[in-house]
This record gives sequence, structure tokens and C-alpha cells, in this order.
Amino acid sequence: MKAIVAVDRNWGIGKDGQLLVRLPGDMKYFKEKTIGKIVVMGRATLESLPGAKPLPERTNIVLSRNPDFSADCAVCSSQEHLLSELIGSKSEDIYVIGGAEIYKTLLPYCDTVYVTKIDGEFPADSYYENLDDNEEWELVFTGERREEKELAYYFTEYRRKSL
Ligand SMILES: NC(=O)c1ccc[n+]([C@@H]2O[C@H](COP(=O)([O-])OP(=O)(O)OC[C@H]3O[C@@H](n4cnc5c(N)ncnc54)[C@H](OP(=O)(O)O)[C@@H]3O)[C@@H](O)[C@H]2O)c1
Repeated sequence: MKAIVAVDRNWGIGKDGQLLVRLPGDMKYFKEKTIGKIVVMGRATLESLPGAKPLPERTNIVLSRNPDFSADCAVCSSQEHLLSELIGSKSEDIYVIGGAEIYKTLLPYCDTVYVTKIDGEFPADSYYENLDDNEEWELVFTGERREEKELAYYFTEYRRKSL
């Protein structure tokens, strides 16, 4: 499976249940990558989406431990439940889309992480693991510099090193 995330210079990803900044070019990239795929997210991230609704044109799976939680998509109550739900799906079609808790739980299952690096620093309360400090991962691609809202950002790709 893969993960897709936007981070600032400190690998911050969110504050008060919301993204650090909305960059239209990054939103478009996220949509292009995930359209038609399976997206896996935590309950908090679902609630941060417009209208707290699943993403259109994608198979959404939400994780919640709350047995009373329901959504207009599949809900899994544990990591084991999720993995059984994903049996039969192609690994490359599964995208982990956040937030911090779900990224952390599912990183061991990921072989590729698409990281949008925003060249700025924001107050944050949620973080992604710094893959530059993790010897199991290597940076394999850095795209051209982009700029929006007076912020530079780059699309990058990390891969799990082969043993
Ligand atoms: N920058 C980015 O690319 C990006 C992307 C996505 C999200 N974010 C940000 O990340 C922040 C949210 O992250 P978060 O860590 O607070 O929340 P989260 O990971 O979206 O969701 C956490 C919730 O998921 C459920 N959960 C977690 N582990 C589970 C497991 N093993 N089994 C079943 N359910 C499980 C629990 O829901 P219950 O409480 O219902 O049990 C938990 O409260 C927000 O600020 C959001 O904007 C950033």
C-alpha cells in the first residue's frame, strides 16, 4: 500500500483537526493520485473533509474503534479488520490518506509514500514520521519547485529500501 501526505519543514501535517494550509495544486495532485483507488483514513480525517463526507469517485474505508460510528462508506474497527477488508485488493491501489494516527499505524505496510514538501513552518499538533531520519526509506524523486500562496512546495516520493 501507499501513503500520500503533505508536510511542512518539520513534517507537521495538521493543527486543530485541519490541514496546515490548502494548496490547490496539491489538492489536484492528491485527486489525480487517488481517483478510482481505495483510500484509507481515520475517523478524525473523515470529519475534516467537506461535509464530513467520503471522497467521491474513490472507495473510502474509515477506521474507528467506536462501534456506534457509521459513515456513508465502509468502517473498520481495527487494523486487523482493515487488513481482512483489503484482502484481494491490489496493494498499489490502496492509499493511506491520514491522519497522523493512521499514517503511523499503517506505515509498516506501505512501500511508497508520496510526500508534498511545503517549504514553510506552521504551528502544528499532528506530524508524519520524518522519513529522512528513517534508514528503511529513501527519497527517490523530487519534482520541480512549485509556488502558491507565496509558498514553495515540491512533490516527492519515498520508497522502502529493498532488503
Ligand atoms: N497533511 C496531510 O496530508 C493530512 C492528511 C490527512 C489528515 N491530516 C491532518 O491530520 C489530523 C488528524 O490526525 P489524527 O491522528 O488526529 O486523526 P486520524 O488518524 O485521522 O483519526 C484518528 C481516529 O481513527 C480511529 N483509529 C485510529 N487507529 C485505529 C485503529 N487501529 N483501529 C480502529 N480505529 C482507529 C480512531 O477513531 P475513533 O476515535 O472514532 O475510535 C481515532 O480517534 C488533522 O489535523 C488532519 O487535518 C493531514
